[in-house]
Amino acid sequence: MKDIKRTTVKALLSDPDKYIGSEVDVKGWVRTRRGNKNVAFIALNDGSSIKNVQIVVDFAKIPEESLKEVTTGASLHVQGSAVASQGKGQAIEIQADEIEIYGTASVADYPLQKKGHTLEFLREIAHLRPRTNTFGAVLRIRHSLAYAIHKFFNDKGFYYFHTPLITASDCEGAGAQFQVTTLPLEDLPKGEDGMVDYSQDFFGKMASLTVSGQLEGELGATALGCIYTFGPTFRAENSNTPRHLSEFWMIEPEMAFYEIEDNMDLAEEFVKYCISYALEHNRDDIEFLAEHFDKGLVDRLNFVVENDFVRLPYTEGVKILEESGKKFEFPVYWGVDLASEHERFLVEEHFKKPVILTDYPKEIKAFYMKLNDDGKTVRAMDVLFPKIGEIIGGSQREEDYGKLKQRMEELGLAGMDWYLDTRKFGSVPHSGFGLGFERLVLFVTGMQNIRDVIPFPRYPNNCDF
Ligand code: 4AD
Ligand code: MG
Repeated sequence: MKDIKRTTVKALLSDPDKYIGSEVDVKGWVRTRRGNKNVAFIALNDGSSIKNVQIVVDFAKIPEESLKEVTTGASLHVQGSAVASQGKGQAIEIQADEIEIYGTASVADYPLQKKGHTLEFLREIAHLRPRTNTFGAVLRIRHSLAYAIHKFFNDKGFYYFHTPLITASDCEGAGAQFQVTTLPLEDLPKGEDGMVDYSQDFFGKMASLTVSGQLEGELGATALGCIYTFGPTFRAENSNTPRHLSEFWMIEPEMAFYEIEDNMDLAEEFVKYCISYALEHNRDDIEFLAEHFDKGLVDRLNFVVENDFVRLPYTEGVKILEESGKKFEFPVYWGVDLASEHERFLVEEHFKKPVILTDYPKEIKAFYMKLNDDGKTVRAMDVLFPKIGEIIGGSQREEDYGKLKQRMEELGLAGMDWYLDTRKFGSVPHSGFGLGFERLVLFVTGMQNIRDVIPFPRYPNNCDF
């Protein structure tokens, strides 16, 4: 092999004029191979783009015999001349001078053959599915969205604040935490009351994986002004749905001096920004997914970016649902925690727009939300999206020390004086929300199942790879 600097497939295809007429060096995996007795056409992909570069091998130059192991999945190093392509659908191709096989992929064993595979089957081979066009597209979009999120907040002067993954408090109070312990499970130390003696555990108390970084995020916001977190969260809910994971990533901005309206404005601007960013930077990937899975995808994304979200109090939302005459699987009445079918009815059938539902009954929301003057509802806001349901959950926070303390006592929350201190010393109105990252990726990719938008999904009875 000659000493030529490697070019990515993306670079070659996006600027063909720069390369045509010169010698190039590419490396990647074989997607397909076809040809006749004189030439072989190899579609090579290196992960930089949904598109492949075509390698043309003339058997007069490279004997067919040496290409026996160039099959789908094999990894190659190719050098040759970049030329204008005769074929349709590509501007440039490579006429190979030399091919080195890095690794073969036996046709008998390699599970990803040319024929399409179901998404269910691909979940069983999650260690190889990033090599498919579909997962390549999803994972590139996922990356772009993560980058857009950091860019959005950085440009607005928010600080990336790292909150702990191991915690001794339950932010959402939903009791869906995974416990972290080094105690011997088969021989637990017990106190006189027969209960487990956690003073002997690693942290000297009961600890869990976090369900949200919010509480610590509030400590950051009430010092730095505006912060955001972006990290993994863990929930041990036994929810086998296409929208729940046991391990998912959440983005939680928290802002001092923001009231609920400011919070809604930020949430709306934020998701629109992320979607626009992907539309602009991941066009090829989005169009591939639209073509194969969801013909309405691009229109739906544009629609969300171009339209104002509806803002509606929970009480009015429930009225609309009650008067809809629609038969829901779960009953609707004031006070109920809305199910996904209710949320989707409001968004997809009634308003046909994203909806921000506000002012929920306090009983169905977390302890930290600010109580409204009616004494019954709290300043909550859930952003509901077509096909997804809830994509964001947030609120204005209770900043009044007395009210918050009373609520925590009502709910039996103890050992959180550090949290109450934010209300004791220089308390300020503040707000924040949490965006489920995978739900955003689900929306932007048009995929149907949240297990297909994270490289290695964790859900009940599944912890492979
Ligand atoms: O509504 P949630 O539970 O809100 C909180 O955790 C707040 N502490 C956020 C805040 O105000 N800082 O979760 C926020 C979002 C949901 O709207 C949803 O998008 C996502 O996190 N989410 C999940 N995503 C995937 N799998 C699960 N099991 C999820 N549970 C929540
Ligand atoms: Mg929620």
